[in-house]
Amino acid sequence: MPKTDPAFDTFSSDCVIRVEKALDHNLPATTIEPRNLHEAMRYATFNGGKRVRPLLVYAAGTACGGDMDVLDIPACAVELIHSYSLVHDDLPAMDDDDLRRGKPTCHKVYDEATAILVGDALQSLAFELLARSTDRIPAETRLNMLRILANASGSRGMAGGQAMDIDGVDQELSLPELEIMHIHKTGALIRASVQLGVLSAGGSKEQLAKLEHYAKAIGLAFQVQDDILDITENTHTLGKTQGKDAADNKPTYPALLGLDGARQKARELL
Ligand code: IPE
Ligand code: IPE
Ligand code: MG
Ligand code: MG
Ligand code: MG
Repeated sequence: MPKTDPAFDTFSSDCVIRVEKALDHNLPATTIEPRNLHEAMRYATFNGGKRVRPLLVYAAGTACGGDMDVLDIPACAVELIHSYSLVHDDLPAMDDDDLRRGKPTCHKVYDEATAILVGDALQSLAFELLARSTDRIPAETRLNMLRILANASGSRGMAGGQAMDIDGVDQELSLPELEIMHIHKTGALIRASVQLGVLSAGGSKEQLAKLEHYAKAIGLAFQVQDDILDITENTHTLGKTQGKDAADNKPTYPALLGLDGARQKARELL
């Protein structure tokens, strides 16, 4: 992997600080009823995520000349959808994981019913934030952003990809089938993050088309790399249980192409 440069490191830590401040501001306080649900929503959101999707909102938006403060709300929205997807992904009915971002999963600390509701509520909050009136982004653009995020999260995006993932357990998927699954379960929200950044910043159609091409490639690369890391990294580094994909007989790139083949695929996409 190429080394990052100091300017990128500064930009990326600035993005983490900004989005976490905005999330803190927009998530209901734990003093508001139902307190347990609001506490669990914060537990699932403030637990050391890398904030890659917000970074992409900020990076795509500023690349199109947008101000960072216009991008805070779309950055929150994609991270809320992502955090919800992880809480549900970890449930016993899905991947049944005990560890997430180095801490016990939401349903372990609270309970399954609360974890389901945390996901529901984080998802609703994401759309509420995007729909909120602001004179910085025209209403028609915000409507388009809502449509994009809804599409990327639903059955033709992330939720659809998760369904393919669950159906794919103990099955041998072909390479095109695996690619479609990864593009949906992870690629769709990454692509939406870039699209929301461009649209919030008032980027041109040409900028959108070019950055969408970029987003499609890194969206798929991200899940291929996630599959690789599940094998090569330890539980401490991952913050999630190592080797879980193989233990569950999940369809992954290394399972189909071997580690070297998966690494080659990630390199090509990058
Ligand atoms: C993990 O995503 C789940 C996938 C979609 C691959 P991240 O690797 O972005 O998880 P966090 O947010 O940093 O914990
Ligand atoms: C999750 O994929 C994709 C989501 C939509 C949450 P994984 O199941 O591979 O994610 P991890 O490895 O548990 O983070
Ligand atoms: Mg999963
Ligand atoms: Mg999982
Ligand atoms: Mg994984």
